[in-house]
Amino acid sequence: MKIIMLGAPGAGKGTQAKMIADKYGVPHISTGDIFRANIKNGTELGVEAKKYMDQGLLVPDELTVKLLLDRVANEDCKNGYVLDGFPRTIPQAEVLEKALNEINDKIDYAIDIDVPDENIINRMSGRRACLACGATYHIEHVPPKKEGICDRCGKELVLRDDDKPETVKKRLNVYHEQTQPLIDFYTNKGILKTVDGTVDMKDVFQSVVNILGE
Ligand code: AP5
Ligand code: MG
Repeated sequence: MKIIMLGAPGAGKGTQAKMIADKYGVPHISTGDIFRANIKNGTELGVEAKKYMDQGLLVPDELTVKLLLDRVANEDCKNGYVLDGFPRTIPQAEVLEKALNEINDKIDYAIDIDVPDENIINRMSGRRACLACGATYHIEHVPPKKEGICDRCGKELVLRDDDKPETVKKRLNVYHEQTQPLIDFYTNKGILKTVDGTVDMKDVFQSVVNILGE
């Protein structure tokens, strides 16, 4: 099962992708998490990606596409994966489609988590992230057991640099300009499914399971 998660920044792609990965036993691949791990480790890729991410801009396709194609060529992706944050532009979607075509394969579902812009800015300021293991919390909706500490790995939780309200506004603009066209792209392929992302995350997940099957 190969799945793409679509949706605005903060729509809940990461939250739902983790639940999908757990239930269906496929790897969760987030390009944002991969970039953040590189930033944390001070790699060349991280230094380059940070310049764009801190401004709320997309990292150029040249840096993103190869990284993703290498990742999905890994052994653990043989039976499928859930992509979170890729593709984010039409050229990225075309490259992925071409690479899959070459191995006689295709994406099964593109799931769009629909959340209006008004809800997003609120959500982001409450998000706390663990840069060590990628876990995500929300100070109201999903608080960690101990304030500021990751339940999963015990490391410190942070407010992401790009979750400041000014940067979130910029990310929303970039989303509408560059990523939203993917909704038409996958509608035309006949694989787009939309779920209401404004309800409780368990109910969002139930809609996802209704699409993917038990
Ligand atoms: P990325 O990390 O992908 O960020 P994003 O798309 O902006 O999405 P987020 O991770 O902010 O939100 P999400 O939808 O995962 O929501 P979450 O589940 O955390 O990318 C960051 C940057 O990296 C980009 O801006 C770009 O620069 C670069 N990048 C990455 N991929 C790229 C690519 N392919 N090409 C180019 N550049 C790329 O939920 C948000 C919060 O809400 C959490 O606190 C959560 O607990 C809470 N929440 C979730 N669901 C609900 C619910 N139903 N009700 C209430 N609260 C909820
Ligand atoms: Mg995310």
